[in-house]
Amino acid sequence: EAGTLWQAARGRLLIGAAVSSRQFDDAGLAALIAEQFDCLTAENEFKPMSLQPRPNQFRFEAADRIVEFARRHGMKVVGHTLCWHSQSPRWLFAGDDGKPLPRDEALKNLEAHVAAVVGRYRGRVLGWDVVNEAIGDAPNAHLRDTPALRAIGGDYIVKAFQFARAADPDAELYYNDYGNEAPAKLEKTLRLVRELKAAGVRLDAVGIQSHFVLGDTDATDRLKRAVEALAAEGVKVAVTELDVDVLPRRGRGADVAAREQGGADPYTEGLPAEVAEAQARFYARIFRVAVDHPGVVARVTFWGTHDGTSWLNFYPAGRRTNHPLLWDRKLKPAFEAVLKLL
Ligand code: XIL
Repeated sequence: EAGTLWQAARGRLLIGAAVSSRQFDDAGLAALIAEQFDCLTAENEFKPMSLQPRPNQFRFEAADRIVEFARRHGMKVVGHTLCWHSQSPRWLFAGDDGKPLPRDEALKNLEAHVAAVVGRYRGRVLGWDVVNEAIGDAPNAHLRDTPALRAIGGDYIVKAFQFARAADPDAELYYNDYGNEAPAKLEKTLRLVRELKAAGVRLDAVGIQSHFVLGDTDATDRLKRAVEALAAEGVKVAVTELDVDVLPRRGRGADVAAREQGGADPYTEGLPAEVAEAQARFYARIFRVAVDHPGVVARVTFWGTHDGTSWLNFYPAGRRTNHPLLWDRKLKPAFEAVLKLL
């Protein structure tokens, strides 16, 4: 049937989803994942905290299940992520006192982690988000202040890419971040791309997470400009964590305050048709950017499958009922809109 996303996009775009290995135990969800997508990212199970919580104690069971499910269903796997300031054990780059490790120790830890993880999945993972969210958000900060930066210095990014390349020369290597389609962060991203190229590292694509909010009418234009600017630098683009938040308040403080005042989220019984259709148009515009740049946008990965699996039911604070994906336990208009566009 061409009624599935990956088949409609075949040969042009990989269509990915973030999953957890436990979802394979739900037969309906496992079927949805296998039918609609041809690329998997572990939502959490490839992160350093999951894979190596303590020095040299690796836990590969969950990650192995994802790789095995993908193999069985002929899907690709993207490894997310090798080096990130979040969901990573402190010991990698700092001592018990929180002070940065000496550079050589931190480099040894990073190298050992990357070598073990990338080496284990050599030939079975299409590519890696080698470094995640390293660019600073503050106007004067090129790089984010992270444990890796404090222990190693600014070349930790180049080092991580070199370690990954050494462990699997055939794997694609990506740099991934959020909000990097916006002009100021895009400029810093282009600078980082040039720095990586000057250092001679392999960089196949920049990942644009694409956690969008319904009503952000400028998102498509930002994404389009970013895709074109990155293409001009000779790198591809992957939309790596796509979702479209439909709830009005996002700020952590505002969210909690509203809840404490008894303010309830709308749409707990499902999306009204006009909101669902606005979301469908939003998704169609995003996919239009992807299909209009063949050979540049290589993949679109959704951050979840149906709405019940989305992190936006918990993030940024509290429990909520969000509707950011293509399935609301049953098909939504956004599904048809994307399918038609492909
Ligand atoms: C999120 C997961 O979806 C959550 O389950 C987890 O609690 C926190 O991390 N940017 C990223 C992803 O690169 O790894 C994050 O995933 C979402 C933001």
